[in-house]
Amino acid sequence: MTLFDRVFGGNDAVYGLTEGAIDGAIAQYGEDKAVSFPNTAYSLPCYYAVTGTKVTTLKELKEALGVVKTLMTREKRLNDAFMSGVATALCAEFIEVLKYIDGATPYEEPCYGHLGDAVIRELGVPLVTGDIPGVAVILGAAPTTEEGVALVKSYQAQGILVTLVGGIIDQVAEAGMKTGANVRVIPLGKDVTSVVHVVSVAIRAALIFGNVTPGDAGTLMKYTMDRVPAFVNAFKPLDDVIVACGAGAIALGFPVVTNETENIFRVPKSLIVQEDVSKFNATSLEARDIKIKITNIDIPVAFASAFEGEIIRRKDMQVEFDGSRVDCAELVHTCDASEIEDHKITVIGPEVDEMEFGSKNSIAYVVKVAGKNMQSDFEPVIERKFHNYINCIEGVYHTGQRDMQRIRISIDAFNAGFRIKHIGEVLYASVKNEFDAVVDKCEVVIYTDPAECTRIRHEVAIPIFDKRDERLDTLTDESVDVYYSCILCQAFAPSHVCVVTPERLGLCGAVSWLDAKATHQLDPAGPCQIITKERPIDENLGSYEDVDEAVQKFSQGALEHVTLYSIMQDPMTSCGCFECICGIEPFSNGVVIANREYAGMTPLGMTFPEMASMTGGGVQTPGFMGHGKHFISSKKFMKAEGGIERIVWMPKELKEFVADRLNKTAKELYGIDNFTDMIGDETIAEDPETLVAFLTEKGHPALGLDPMM
Ligand code: SF4
Ligand code: NI
Ligand code: NI
Repeated sequence: MTLFDRVFGGNDAVYGLTEGAIDGAIAQYGEDKAVSFPNTAYSLPCYYAVTGTKVTTLKELKEALGVVKTLMTREKRLNDAFMSGVATALCAEFIEVLKYIDGATPYEEPCYGHLGDAVIRELGVPLVTGDIPGVAVILGAAPTTEEGVALVKSYQAQGILVTLVGGIIDQVAEAGMKTGANVRVIPLGKDVTSVVHVVSVAIRAALIFGNVTPGDAGTLMKYTMDRVPAFVNAFKPLDDVIVACGAGAIALGFPVVTNETENIFRVPKSLIVQEDVSKFNATSLEARDIKIKITNIDIPVAFASAFEGEIIRRKDMQVEFDGSRVDCAELVHTCDASEIEDHKITVIGPEVDEMEFGSKNSIAYVVKVAGKNMQSDFEPVIERKFHNYINCIEGVYHTGQRDMQRIRISIDAFNAGFRIKHIGEVLYASVKNEFDAVVDKCEVVIYTDPAECTRIRHEVAIPIFDKRDERLDTLTDESVDVYYSCILCQAFAPSHVCVVTPERLGLCGAVSWLDAKATHQLDPAGPCQIITKERPIDENLGSYEDVDEAVQKFSQGALEHVTLYSIMQDPMTSCGCFECICGIEPFSNGVVIANREYAGMTPLGMTFPEMASMTGGGVQTPGFMGHGKHFISSKKFMKAEGGIERIVWMPKELKEFVADRLNKTAKELYGIDNFTDMIGDETIAEDPETLVAFLTEKGHPALGLDPMM
């Protein structure tokens, strides 16, 4: 048998199964039955991306199968094998979508099956920053449970997102390993066809971030090859179906590493035989050219970005620290170099051993830094990273910030030897590692003595926080001399540029003007560049000749004009990883905002994924705009169209999140009290008629404004 025979044979087998399954479903439900995957605007994502056609019913699915058949040419050329691989993936997608008929939930814990668009948008920033350096797809059962678990853990420790298909799922479960998107180990499903759910993620990334036109299969495959750092590990025995799926993976640019030696054909850099499973990791990273940033920290538990989302429940915790109940603080404090002894870690007060099991305690840590290029503006930027740093510790959980942080240390971490002093080690190493351009020396003092914590919180930290807030309040677009660009997301959205100003943070919500300033200082040739604002064209629109020139340059000519304050005229582009999206609601002359977490319907008749699919990929789309949550309360929020008084609807949770700040802005700008009471949400209206009735009753100001279009 040649490789061609195996690919074609596997493809034919899956095709036969798919045809049978579709015919069976038509017999059962009738051909008008709706088919779709949940929480995506691109159903069926793979088929839509490859052909440009959306499938909504069983009848269309059957027609689509006919199109798939045309890909299944049988000449013994590499391209035929690749296209048969793609056809196999499309068949898998058809088989999988049938499982979702009638809103069924075919996958049970721990398996995920289909992943919604929001998951992909969330992956945007960590992928571009290299926080998630790659995506591993592990297929089948490892020779032993130990080897399988060791492989999964090795990727997890590198921050790589791991997806599992087939026997490996039972192996990690048997070993008692925690899985889930929050620890970056995602079991997809036990059937081999469930592998299409990760293929679908890669392909939607091209649609969401890459502005790839559905139907342009060539550009699609180039995008996944160049920009999605995925690879496959397939355990023996490989049947023909898996080999055919592998051909599909290779067509998308994802190398396949296997320990199968029989009846397999090596293709350099693409189909690689590695008999030693303990070397799968190294072989895969080399094949896909993935470089891992190593932070070696001397602590008794793992430290990796994969643990950032790990949650420690009450029953699993040894002790906790809770700033909402007792005095706590976390603080970066700039000192003179002579006052600091580099890498000195001091704990003042009891260690975990001396704390009662399950107790609530005080903690305050002061990270003293010194450096020639250090500025007090960078203190909050560094401080805000503490949340990530501490969360990356396996078995330690951190939420909140400033004097309201909460930390839990798990029983497992404690038993492994983790102590308070190790928090100091983590803070020291992480700050030195990430901020080496501004921090020359760093010392950490951790207080657990309650009286000392009270002193630090009230006498040291709070006065500093107050001062910083005053500074932030006076930071306006008018008060600064320069803005910053951010082009981090160009890794996925090649022509996207964010212009970051004091009153308009990056649309991902993660890059404020201070962050951008610090990033520029840390890496002068990096993603954040200075944009001057000396030649205004129209202050109301927020257009400047300098800004236009900058976006032209940073988008390689793709963009000519960008305004900072309008969503109608030359609005800023979106990459795809925005926290929120707003869109025009014509009946009320207003805008509707939805956040990524919101799963329901909006009065636009669109869900978040559907609204989000209207923009992205670095393209300007008047009427729709991606933005950060904090931008909602900004005085510059679509100022050119009248500002925040255009906001007519938000999901309840988002409304509550922004209420204090938004109400304050509304009061200052328009003298309106409790503005959020006038804004609809899903408990009030999910359609325009009900919404307008509500707005009329409340006397919402948008109703009296000029139409936007
Ligand atoms: Fe991406 Fe813009 Fe955020 Fe930078 S500021 S990471 S370009 S979304
Ligand atoms: Ni107090
Ligand atoms: Ni982005």
